[in-house]
Amino acid sequence: MDVYGLIGNPVGHSLSPPMHEAAYEELGMNARYVTFEPEPEAIESVITGAQALGIQGLNVTIPFKQDVLEQVTCDPTAERIGAVNTIDFSTDPPTGYNTDITGVIRTFKHHDITLEDRTAVIIGAGGAARAVAFALADAGAEFHIVNRTESKAESLAAELEGATAGGLSELPSVLPDADILINATSVGMEEDQSPVSAELLHADLTVFDAVYRPLQTKLLRDAQAVGAKTIDGAWMLLYQGVAAFEIWTDKEAPVSAMNQALRNRLE
Ligand code: ATR
Repeated sequence: MDVYGLIGNPVGHSLSPPMHEAAYEELGMNARYVTFEPEPEAIESVITGAQALGIQGLNVTIPFKQDVLEQVTCDPTAERIGAVNTIDFSTDPPTGYNTDITGVIRTFKHHDITLEDRTAVIIGAGGAARAVAFALADAGAEFHIVNRTESKAESLAAELEGATAGGLSELPSVLPDADILINATSVGMEEDQSPVSAELLHADLTVFDAVYRPLQTKLLRDAQAVGAKTIDGAWMLLYQGVAAFEIWTDKEAPVSAMNQALRNRLE
């Protein structure tokens, strides 16, 4: 039996087990996907232990995405962003990838949205925003990063080609000319709130909200009301998992079975 899994702390509400196990079932694979919640100080022995046990692949989430860097050989994308969310144990040392970035790119591709030469606005400058910003830079988009704490947006933009930065107060001046708006903050997750005033949205926008609980955030409802195209956060979650599955198994992922398994568990 092949064993895959997720390490993070906490991992209790992860949707990765049902998503990956739906893929194993669809393809008739004898495999399991297990979550592990090690103590932060145990991370080094976790990776060597996983290798010794013959675990085939691990996803990595908060707080370990930087901690594992020293124990893996990073692919160029993971190296540049300085964070690993997928480890492949078929090499020694294991190889670290960042499929959050691939997830963003494949999300836009799935929806037939071209990123090259488009103007985007990213709200947020934390971990999720970082993956989105690297994806947009790789795809050749021009983008403005705005964040409540402006200095964090500035540091992120300074790392990337095609990026500028500012505070949230710039939204009224930058949104009218934007093609794509991405919410990479946690606003909309706990409460029914949007990081953007509804009157700033317009029909020429594609709005992607990285929040997936709930699926239909206030931002996405407001965007639909003005006729904008909308993309919910489950797509990014799906496609980072699809990319990890394909790295580990060398098989084409059964995307619709994985998508169905995710959406069955989200509202
Ligand atoms: P994640 O890994 O999900 O990106 P994070 O790294 O904690 O989480 O980042 C959260 C992001 O949401 C940050 O950009 C944060 O803004 P600050 O950098 O100013 O903290 C943003 N955020 C969280 N709550 C917010 C709020 N109420 N209004 C605006 N932005 C908020």
